Amino acid sequence: MPSHPPDTLRVKTGLSVEALAPSLAQMDHTVFQDPAWGESAYRGLLTGGGAEGWLLVTEGGEPAGFLVFRRAADEVELLRIAILPRFRRQGWGRWLVESFCGVMARQGAATVFLELRAQNRQAAGLYRSVGFVQAGLRPGYYSHPPEDALIFKKELTRKN
Ligand SMILES: CC(C)(COP(=O)(O)OP(=O)(O)OC[C@H]1O[C@@H](n2cnc3c(N)ncnc32)[C@H](O)[C@@H]1OP(=O)(O)O)[C@@H](O)C(=O)NCCC(=O)NCCS
Repeated sequence: MPSHPPDTLRVKTGLSVEALAPSLAQMDHTVFQDPAWGESAYRGLLTGGGAEGWLLVTEGGEPAGFLVFRRAADEVELLRIAILPRFRRQGWGRWLVESFCGVMARQGAATVFLELRAQNRQAAGLYRSVGFVQAGLRPGYYSHPPEDALIFKKELTRKN
């Protein structure tokens, strides 16, 4: 994994749905209003929907962020990512996305796709800084509030 800021966060992968769903729902509720995804939505996604989740936690096990993704053949869709407010602007978002792309590349994925709100400048800055480029636009894709979606993609190499 790439070097990370001098702090104490680490990634937990391979967690059970029982361990992940409540934690993801709680963080989602803190971060997203469009609307937030609840525990049952996460349970459905992680069981029937084929998605997987990573938690970013402190040394003491306190949640600090997460990402949720789904794989199909050699493509990966990054469905959700967040860093909780008090851990932001310290490089953790970039570290998490770079680490994720590296692991996916080593596991044979070729491309990562994601969608984001057109006005989400923080997320767009983060994705561009790690090599994502805009690959499309979905007019009026989001509601609450209505907004276009940008589609970003990154081609992975073994160097990721
Ligand atoms: C987007 C998000 C994950 C960034 O996490 P973070 O840990 O604060 O990001 P980093 O500290 O690693 O910053 C990486 C880059 O992101 C961009 N960025 C992050 N926060 C920013 C802000 N408030 N304003 C402008 N750019 C910002 C910058 O390009 C930054 O690079 P720089 O520090 O060299 O300028 C975080 O703001 C978040 O959780 N937002 C709410 C959830 C969300 O929007 N998720 C994405 C949905 S697609």
